[in-house]
Amino acid sequence: MPQSYLGKRQPHVPVMVREVLSLLVHDPNGIYVDCTAGCGGHTVAILGKLSHQGRLIGLDRDKDSLLVANEKLKAFGERVFLFNKDFRKLPDVLEELSVKSLSGVLFDLGLSSYQLGLKRGFSFQEEAPLDMRFDSTTGTTAAEILNNSDETRLAEILRVYGDVRNADRVARSIVEHRKEKPLSTTAHLVTAVRRTISSKNPNSSLARIFQAIRIAVNGELDAIREGLAIATTFLARGGRICVIGYHSGEDRIVKQFMRGEATFADGSSSRLELLTHKVIRPSEQEVAANPRSRSARLRAARRLENEQIP
Ligand SMILES: C[S@@+](CC[C@H](N)C(=O)[O-])C[C@H]1O[C@@H](n2cnc3c(N)ncnc32)[C@H](O)[C@@H]1O
Repeated sequence: MPQSYLGKRQPHVPVMVREVLSLLVHDPNGIYVDCTAGCGGHTVAILGKLSHQGRLIGLDRDKDSLLVANEKLKAFGERVFLFNKDFRKLPDVLEELSVKSLSGVLFDLGLSSYQLGLKRGFSFQEEAPLDMRFDSTTGTTAAEILNNSDETRLAEILRVYGDVRNADRVARSIVEHRKEKPLSTTAHLVTAVRRTISSKNPNSSLARIFQAIRIAVNGELDAIREGLAIATTFLARGGRICVIGYHSGEDRIVKQFMRGEATFADGSSSRLELLTHKVIRPSEQEVAANPRSRSARLRAARRLENEQIP
């Protein structure tokens, strides 16, 4: 990995690679999409399982991460296509490549360790402007949300996206602080919430607050709902969809989507067959080697063979 891209930033270690490969890659000659290619960790691993005929399309909203991925993927030449796009734009990408159906699709949600080390406001441990956008060319920044949302909306964001227990108190404290001066940096946000967080586990409280704001900034939960539905429509018969989530809000959406696609209300089966009846968690060895994997939850499903695909 080139130092020019990483500097002293943390490299990202892909999560549950062995489990993802065994659930996702069933046809080595197929076309696969990594909807959240990031720094290319899973992308490289998937390509390593494919034949020379197999192809991989990688998407990510973050162009800095794709620069890292691009370096790693050079050896695969024309078998890999990277796009700096939201995964909801998958139909446009497939049309551009004249691809009609897919053997498998991977979503590895959230953000990478690499992004945590960028000066874009994702981490409470890095002094940086409060931006938090995956795509810094568009959308609303964290500072705009923190300074312009009313107290009720802020509390809702903290509660729903971060499971912040004392969300009302944290929201009130943010509103009080911004009266003096609009919040503009991560350090400023930490100061604004400091007296509301538990002294026992301050890092965990700060991580939840930052996670909640990031999810609101990027509209992440709506994107997941839409992205899963879009990707499923392109799966060939027997094609696989694998999703790794990192918190209960993400996993709930994935679980509901897969279960809903696997069974109609009358009990008859629908488009997908579940491959993971229970969520898969990383092994103890993986968590010991990569503590950031500890919250990961993997679910997978397969498009039914006998369903009519237009
Ligand atoms: C956990 S990281 C993926 C890491 C990657 N699997 C690897 O091994 O390097 C999640 C990635 O999803 C990207 N992302 C989040 N929402 C997205 C969206 N709607 N469309 C495309 N990429 C998205 C983030 O920018 C981030 O790079």
